[in-house]
Amino acid sequence: MRYYLETKNLNKQYGTFHAVKDMNVHMVKGDIYGLIGPNGAGKTTLMKMIIGFANPTSGEILIDEKQGGKKIGNLIESPGIYGHLDAFDNMMLKAKALGVYDKKTITEILDFVGLSSAGDKKAGKFSLGMKQRLGIALALLGDPEILILDEPINGLDPQGIIEVRELIIRLNEERNMTIMISSHILGELQKVANVFGIITGGELLMEITSDELKERCSGDSDSLEEFYLDVVRKGRKVC
Ligand SMILES: Nc1ncnc2c1ncn2[C@@H]1O[C@H](COP(=O)(O)OP(=O)(O)OP(=O)(O)O)[C@@H](O)[C@H]1O
Ligand SMILES: [Mg+2]
Repeated sequence: MRYYLETKNLNKQYGTFHAVKDMNVHMVKGDIYGLIGPNGAGKTTLMKMIIGFANPTSGEILIDEKQGGKKIGNLIESPGIYGHLDAFDNMMLKAKALGVYDKKTITEILDFVGLSSAGDKKAGKFSLGMKQRLGIALALLGDPEILILDEPINGLDPQGIIEVRELIIRLNEERNMTIMISSHILGELQKVANVFGIITGGELLMEITSDELKERCSGDSDSLEEFYLDVVRKGRKVC
């Protein structure tokens, strides 16, 4: 199997504390990779290393450039939105910082994420779902081929969750983006991801595709949750 993005024995230590231990994650081009694990498992730390926000203590992050670009967009922690600016001006500010001053691209991205109708409404007045979609729009500036989204549906109401879900699926299908998403809402993650990485205590316990999960758990809609809880709590697999 040729991977688009993989990590090799990736480690992150804070002093003597191992936040990420010898982690080998594998993403195929076009994957939506669901990253799951308890609070403090190391998901954000892994994502920060992949996007270059944190330096690995050791190990490597490899991107196979024969399969596409190296550019990675991210929505990690707060998306850096200015409340006194509308969506367009927020985008313009980041575009200028990136040196990609292009009104047409901004309009096109805002259209894609469904924010063109927000007009000159200030981002401070946006719903959480709109803010998340603006966060994703900001992540799309610079034309990345890989997106890293840390808990993009955290705190959203059902409508907001559906909006972000549909956007993620469209990014994957229409723009062929390879996406890693972390979330604690497993039923939702199961709706979008085709492969899951389960991590706990800084270690990757397993990677499993949604097809393998279906085979093992006979397509039960709560199967990921059940599977995950057994893997994390008991260290064994169910279904
Ligand atoms: N800058 C830092 N200095 C020291 N320890 C850190 C630092 N950043 C993270 N950690 C620790 O590393 C571990 C992993 O944290 P991380 O934020 O990656 O977990 P997570 O899986 O994203 O959790 P959550 O689900 O709560 O977001 C935690 O124990 C955390 O306290
Ligand atoms: Mg986190």
